[in-house]
Amino acid sequence: MTTVELSGKVALVTGASRGIGYGVAQALLARGDRVCITGRNEDALKEAVERLGADRVIGVAGKAHDEAHQAVAVERTMEAFGRVDFLVNNAGTNPVFGPIADLDLNVARKVFETNVVSALGFAQQTWKAWQSANGGAIVNIASLAGVSASPFIGAYGMSKAAMINLSLQLAHEFAPLVRVNSIAPAVVKTKFAQALYEGREEEAAAAYPLGRLGVPSDIGGAAAFLTSEQSDWITGQTLVVDGGIFLNAGVS
Ligand SMILES: NC(=O)c1ccc[n+]([C@@H]2O[C@H](COP(=O)([O-])OP(=O)(O)OC[C@H]3O[C@@H](n4cnc5c(N)ncnc54)[C@H](OP(=O)(O)O)[C@@H]3O)[C@@H](O)[C@H]2O)c1
Repeated sequence: MTTVELSGKVALVTGASRGIGYGVAQALLARGDRVCITGRNEDALKEAVERLGADRVIGVAGKAHDEAHQAVAVERTMEAFGRVDFLVNNAGTNPVFGPIADLDLNVARKVFETNVVSALGFAQQTWKAWQSANGGAIVNIASLAGVSASPFIGAYGMSKAAMINLSLQLAHEFAPLVRVNSIAPAVVKTKFAQALYEGREEEAAAAYPLGRLGVPSDIGGAAAFLTSEQSDWITGQTLVVDGGIFLNAGVS
């Protein structure tokens, strides 16, 4: 077994019992960070903590939009590890598919609550508890849907665009202590995106200039970069991580 040299840094990654959040947690652990992960299902979260390594990982169960949960997650991270350098706002939802002309406005509110307001709440908590005095970095996991029209997932696209603007606001307000950036992935192979490629992965991948769909470690690598010294002069940016699919815009 190889021993990882500890970085002394601590990250809070929301929605990380599987998928992209789990991939981000793996990438940060691999470089020596300690990590707090969240998710709604307590058993799944416990299993993820065990798989990632309970010596350097804790889990705090709860719903991302719940203010009490946001506060408890940050408190527990501070108790366990004494600091919270990095926040990765990854928990997100996309519960509807269809034209926005017919969209139930309560569903639109729920999407914004989970994808945008919760990210702001977590940012407020980490700022108060640690970052305002000690610095750090925040990464918001947005989507390619937030920088382009996204037919049939309009509420989701609007919320991800708002998340990108949230990064701009926070980057401005929290500078120079805290850098804040977004990542905008295209389709990454997770439970969330399964319906988009299941049974037709080869066909779906053919649209990507780099010839494949994304995997969680692709986003993990980008999040590790944006929370590292290598990106010390980068803030308020959106890193599109998409296998080149955006290059197709304008290609007839
Ligand atoms: N996969 C893609 O193609 C793709 C592309 C662009 C952007 N994204 C974004 O990436 C993020 C992660 O997506 P994913 O594909 O990794 O999804 P996923 O595989 O379904 O994983 C989602 C994770 O978040 C947790 N979670 C979901 N809703 C939550 C909530 N309300 N509060 C707290 N935890 C919650 C889930 O655990 P529980 O179910 O136990 O809560 C799980 O750990 C989302 O913000 C999504 O919009 C994904």
